[in-house]
Amino acid sequence: MPDGVVGVERLVVEHAERLSGEVAVQGSKNSALPILTATLLCDGICTIENCPDLSDVDVTLEILKSLGAKVLKEKNSVIVDSTEVCGFKISKEMMKKIRSSILFLGALSARMGRAELCVPGGCKLGPRPIDWHLAALSQMGLKIENQDKMLFCELEDRFKGAEITLPLPSVGATENIILAAVLAKGTTIIRNAAREPEICDLCDFLIKCGARIEGAGQSEVKIVGVERLSGAEHRVIPDRIVAVTFLAAAAAVGGDVTVQSVAPAHMQSMLEVFKKIGCDVNVAAESVQILAKDKKLAPIREIVTKPYPGFPTDAQALFMVLASISDGSCMFVENIFKNRYKHAEELVKLGADIKVMDKIAVVKGVDELYGEETLEAKDLRGAAALVIAAMAADGRTTITGVEHLDRGYEDFEKNLRRLGANIKRI
Ligand code: EPU
Repeated sequence: MPDGVVGVERLVVEHAERLSGEVAVQGSKNSALPILTATLLCDGICTIENCPDLSDVDVTLEILKSLGAKVLKEKNSVIVDSTEVCGFKISKEMMKKIRSSILFLGALSARMGRAELCVPGGCKLGPRPIDWHLAALSQMGLKIENQDKMLFCELEDRFKGAEITLPLPSVGATENIILAAVLAKGTTIIRNAAREPEICDLCDFLIKCGARIEGAGQSEVKIVGVERLSGAEHRVIPDRIVAVTFLAAAAAVGGDVTVQSVAPAHMQSMLEVFKKIGCDVNVAAESVQILAKDKKLAPIREIVTKPYPGFPTDAQALFMVLASISDGSCMFVENIFKNRYKHAEELVKLGADIKVMDKIAVVKGVDELYGEETLEAKDLRGAAALVIAAMAADGRTTITGVEHLDRGYEDFEKNLRRLGANIKRI
């Protein structure tokens, strides 16, 4: 949801005794968004399957349409034909709606030789600068004039290959450089690249389209620019954070839940924590079952968020809920975003014992959380965490700001209800 827009919908969540059953996990939002952006680079038809049906995806498709692409979306299948793209400006309104719109900087400049767009706004996770994106693309030959947060970008001819070392393995900056580099003149090397599975998924898609990329998923990625990319068919990888959200819900209230159509290898750091707190975790090729016992969760002790394959910042809020009802203390260290503890103050309203000091949060497990409160969700993952906390809490909890959930979770309440939760959206 854009900053400043107050949602009217709310969730009413009752205490849940136990969850049981199976849930099929959607495709990854953070893969689908860069892949859809990458379709701008292709001559021909791209068919993207397992694309999650989310508001962030809809905004990305609106941007593509506004540039002249033909787009057809049917639930989880999206067809994009960018052959006739002729626009080079993206409206401020659309740029501000989603953070990942910044990926159009690389893709649109590569496609059209120029781009006019604005800097996506700050967000609830902190300032989220784009200086590494700008520096890298400038190094690759893009002239960028920044006037009052409007970016006027121009290439003399094509992007030029370059050797780029990122200060930290930024997901978005790595993706933007890849999008610029696949059609560049010459070879690009990215050092200290992000290694997230979503980066690999973007590269897998681009390789199907004819791109030459080596080393995706490693710290050094090499991209040899090609003259053109064709369309391709691609299936988006499962959303590891959504999968873990359902497992965390089961761990919080007890039960037996299996997430289907997942990639367990992408969830390793989080599955380890479920085991540590006393849940049985059964991993198969494409599913994970969690058996959460009725007794109190064992202490987590420490969660330190890091770039992949470390513990993901996107799961920090979910595990803070588990720490809040565990038998002991846990220290959280949030290394990725400066302001990603907004959920903590809401959890405290339910009776959680959490002290936040800058990037550290110390959580002491309590015996029970109490509902009967109205909580405000302030970001996507925080919203999911509050729903789980509300299910674990005694009584009934109301949650506002639920539009955040629609940015990242398809049929969230419906899936939880199928597992036995009592949640209503009003
Ligand atoms: N950073 C800079 N300058 C830059 C770029 C990044 O200082 O030019 C800083 C950021 O401010 C942040 C850190 O580097 O402190 C890491 O940011 P990164 O660029 O890796 O994050 P992102 O690409 O903006 C993606 C996901 C986030 C996820 C992060 C980290 C998408 C669309 N978003 O964001 O997902 O938390 O990587 O893994 O892929 C979410 O799904 O809820 C979400 C926030």
